[in-house]
Amino acid sequence: MTSDPRLVVISNRVAVPKARGAAGAQGGLAGALHAALKSREGLWFGWSGEESESGRTGHIDTQTNDGVTTATIDLSQRDIDEYYNGYANATLWPLFHDRLDLAEYERETAKGYERVNERFAELSAPLIGPDDVVWVHDYHLIPLGERLRARGVQNRIGFFLHIPWPPTRLFVSLPYHERLVRTLLNYDVVGFQTKEWLDSFLHYCEHELGAEIDRNSGKVSFEGRTTIARAYPIGIDWDHFSRLGETGEARQAQQRLMSSTRRRAAMIGVDRLDYSKGIPERIDGIGRFFDRNPERVSDLVFVQIAPPSREDVESYQKIRAELEQKCGQINGARSEVDMVPIRYVNRGYSHAELFGFFRAAKIGLVTPLRDGMNLVAKEYVAAQDPEDPGVLVLSRFAGAAAQLKDAVLVNPHSPDDIAHAIRMALDMPLEERKRRYQAMIGTVRDDNVQEWTANFLRDLGTA
Ligand code: F6P
Repeated sequence: MTSDPRLVVISNRVAVPKARGAAGAQGGLAGALHAALKSREGLWFGWSGEESESGRTGHIDTQTNDGVTTATIDLSQRDIDEYYNGYANATLWPLFHDRLDLAEYERETAKGYERVNERFAELSAPLIGPDDVVWVHDYHLIPLGERLRARGVQNRIGFFLHIPWPPTRLFVSLPYHERLVRTLLNYDVVGFQTKEWLDSFLHYCEHELGAEIDRNSGKVSFEGRTTIARAYPIGIDWDHFSRLGETGEARQAQQRLMSSTRRRAAMIGVDRLDYSKGIPERIDGIGRFFDRNPERVSDLVFVQIAPPSREDVESYQKIRAELEQKCGQINGARSEVDMVPIRYVNRGYSHAELFGFFRAAKIGLVTPLRDGMNLVAKEYVAAQDPEDPGVLVLSRFAGAAAQLKDAVLVNPHSPDDIAHAIRMALDMPLEERKRRYQAMIGTVRDDNVQEWTANFLRDLGTA
């Protein structure tokens, strides 16, 4: 523990949900915040993930597990439908991932979003001590800072967006877009994963709001208030993750995958089952590789781990059906009685098991259409054997591509590009694999989650 002020983290999702595995399965947020809170005194406030009528009574469940104290509330079914499934995941999520075609603009869900943010403020404000530093996370809670200020909370309050910030020409399609950004300017520091998302935000502030921007210091001045806006690329919990390789669980998982694939090279994808992750497009790319290189079907087995996510939202139901159809089609056409080219798995695994699978896989396929960062890419690199590393094939549209420039970068919309990258990765000489791994491992190790936390909180402390 340090003598830093107490940290109050507020996010929609709190403790790591049971059996959902590593970053790809649960999203990067839960793991990152768990790591951030383990190393300092703090409190983590948010939704329990449960529906109950106690959501109305304001009951707060406080627990301490594994050195982290959480304070969670349940939500009513109406709140979940309007705030979580509705505005957060059927409006903001698709819009912020450039999927205007999927974004729903409904007045009722927008009201539910405001109502639950107000509820979060009402229930969390009494837990905040005068010297605490408050750190709010992600698109579910953009207006929370303003709601806390309205309740007299004077503390330093920061906000971090884990997903992309969309280009202005898309963002202005959101009804009341200006109102949302004005609430954001109640924070002392607003953080983004990459310079690209930061630049989009600054562009909006300058051109739509008429705010004054100082790009050197990151200061956004508007109506007498100043907010610092900067990029803070999130990283993995290197100390924890890199040690998993020594565990029996990781070794067994590695062995399990290797022995079941025998002489064939394993290629792996690990993602929440989300349309932003580009999984059907990835399957198309693999299909194209098989079409172009039929003699190599028996060289490769692709393992896609995809735990279902946000299952009450229609676009997620559709993507699941599409994926099942595509995998079924390729397997039907390309399988033999003793060989299936695509293993599609709808469940999560522990961090240690994923470490083992990553290490066993000669190729890591991380091809989101748009992604704030993507920690699976970093975990895949972290799990490799330095003497015989696998190859990371990474979408140029993932935030991680700005740091992992020595991955094989692809356009995830192009099946030809993915097919070409697979072929290149399969045939890549050991020396080149080692060179690429060495060029990436430093940033994966050093720009870790502890650094991310320290950098953000340093700026918040001096803002
Ligand atoms: O990392 C982005 C994010 O949306 C987090 O806010 C969220 O916790 C995670 O993905 C997983 O999504 P969900 O909480 O909806 O299961």
